[in-house]
Amino acid sequence: MVDSDTPLVLLPAFPFDGRMWGAVADGLAGPVIAPDPRGFGRPVGDDEPDLDLLAADVVALLDERGLDRVVLGGCSMGGYVALAVLRTAPERVGGLVLIDTKPTADPPPAKQNRAAMAERAEREGVDGWLMADMLPLLLGPTTVEERPEVVETVRDLTAGLSPEGVAWAQRAMAARPDSSEALAAAEIPVLVLHGEQDAIIPVEAARATADLLRRGELVLFGESGHLPPLEVPAECAAAIMTWWESKVTATP
Ligand code: MLT
Repeated sequence: MVDSDTPLVLLPAFPFDGRMWGAVADGLAGPVIAPDPRGFGRPVGDDEPDLDLLAADVVALLDERGLDRVVLGGCSMGGYVALAVLRTAPERVGGLVLIDTKPTADPPPAKQNRAAMAERAEREGVDGWLMADMLPLLLGPTTVEERPEVVETVRDLTAGLSPEGVAWAQRAMAARPDSSEALAAAEIPVLVLHGEQDAIIPVEAARATADLLRRGELVLFGESGHLPPLEVPAECAAAIMTWWESKVTATP
């Protein structure tokens, strides 16, 4: 059963670790677990790149903590992982918060870009170019113009990234299957949050996701890009709390 004591497990976007959720967690009333994915804050290991392994890591963590069922939240890559848990261990998922993510697989050009990014990371390391390329895409124009401290936070959180972790995650994302069917079949409450200024996953994707859902709710943030948990953390936490109180704890 899912109630107000059910933990919320939050999975970060690429290329972040669990620290990306600090400001959101401050605005949430219940228990929060924000693990680091392999490659980000912990060693990547020897396994072939596969997001289902990140999903298996989440399930292993739940086993370790004796948690049968949790609410899973994920931003972007974290959402892909949350959906992989839904596909592979649906009995562990009591609800989902999908933030600036999508259930569809990558089209061929996106897979090619990921392969190129993985190769460059292995060849040159990631210092300098990776965040220079990604920052303008990750943060919305309102954040860049009005919240310089968020730009600094993103730089701090991504200092010292592991090139192996970056390459592994890009290849794992490229290989992920489509999770739309599992999501459309799910009877659980699902909250879709999305920044309207997202330049990586356009807001239309969030509308399409919400249309798939049996028990879905969509909340848009007009002044956020791809990273609402860092750009508008208070709004993000408030939307999760409102949904939690009205939908999650009302789940039989
Ligand atoms: C992320 O924010 O996790 C990534 O940008 C997602 C992606 O590359 O598809």
